[in-house]
Amino acid sequence: MTTELKKGLEGVLVAESALSDIDGDAGELYYRGYPIEALAEEATYEEVLYLLWNEDLPTAAELADFEAEMREARAVKPGIIDLLQLLADSGERPISALRSSVSMLSAEDPATGSDPTDLEAARHMGRRISAKFPTVLAAFDRLRRGKEPVEPREDLGLAANFLYMLHGTEPDPVDAEIFDKALTLHADHGLNASTFTAMVVGSTLADVYNSVTAAVAALSGPLHGGANQDVMEALLEIDEGPLTATEWIKELLDSGERIPGWGHRVYNVRDPRAKILESELRRLSNRTEDCHWLEYLEDLETHLTEEVGLPEKGVAPNVDFYSGAIYYQLGIPLDMFTAIFAMSRSTGWIGHVLEYQADNKLIRPRGRYIGPDRREFVPIEER
Ligand code: COA
Repeated sequence: MTTELKKGLEGVLVAESALSDIDGDAGELYYRGYPIEALAEEATYEEVLYLLWNEDLPTAAELADFEAEMREARAVKPGIIDLLQLLADSGERPISALRSSVSMLSAEDPATGSDPTDLEAARHMGRRISAKFPTVLAAFDRLRRGKEPVEPREDLGLAANFLYMLHGTEPDPVDAEIFDKALTLHADHGLNASTFTAMVVGSTLADVYNSVTAAVAALSGPLHGGANQDVMEALLEIDEGPLTATEWIKELLDSGERIPGWGHRVYNVRDPRAKILESELRRLSNRTEDCHWLEYLEDLETHLTEEVGLPEKGVAPNVDFYSGAIYYQLGIPLDMFTAIFAMSRSTGWIGHVLEYQADNKLIRPRGRYIGPDRREFVPIEER
């Protein structure tokens, strides 16, 4: 047994995976060997889902079957809407509402309670979870705004259908395409905290619903999801305040705070997803004829790169730097950003659980004991 302590499991290999591969020095990300740039540009999110849950990209016939199953599974039962109303009325955060809903969704899944080693049943559960997440989130947001939920449409792709259910109108095709790419970019990213959480739970042979519930909980913490919301809040502060973007960032740096959307545990250079999202934000800004969010972000990046020299320290824009402004321009409320991340990352959670359970070993690390030496028990009357 190794006695070297690796706090936070940093750099520790705990499993083999064929899902995603990250080169943190080169700034590259691959899903099953395909570069993220090609997948974002050429494939739909549903093709990426299929790729991550199976060994390769689907043929047209395979994709049609896969999409049909997922589209049919989009609707949720009235009990879920009642639960969402309750959660909305109590002011729950979207990510917490999602967590509670996953537990409840398991009750309406016919595969719940099946043999824990039945991977085919687990696969179906995973598809149903990913199919219903957009419905749950859109319904929750509408209910808390006092609006009726919008029924899912089977003729729209997952991304377009989510925007449709959120806003009640069919989205512009460019908006739907940009959102689809954002989902692809967040679908998987190695053994991050929420994915690892899902795997730990899955390694006990608990079902996929339990793994995903725990993973959503892990993502809800500020050290994991949430930086894109911080970035957007910063942009709004700049927009509404007296300071330019450069003056604002100087003040933040002087106060010793970290820049949201910069730095990454795995990348030492610019996150490849940031580059794609930057160009998608440019596309969206051209469509909406509103470039000022992009301009703030570019001013911030130029200052932090050329004047502060953060990239020389291995700190560069991450996936969250440009995604917040995209979601904001798509009309997604700020506090939904982390839940959107969960919607997309459910792909990775489920993929890793299925992969790990196929060759399962209970995950059970050890801690180094630093408490008192062995001692005699003292009865309560003698203490
Ligand atoms: N802004 C300014 N400086 C930063 C920074 C940031 N966002 N992120 C890291 N640094 C600096 C640290 O201050 C530290 O400098 P020092 O060596 O002079 O003390 C150095 O870079 C290394 O920081 P460390 O905390 O060891 O890096 P990490 O890899 O553990 O941190 C994050 C990764 C994500 C926790 C960190 O970059 C961060 O807090 N980023 C902002 C939040 C964010 O965007 N999170 C989403 C990640 S996808």
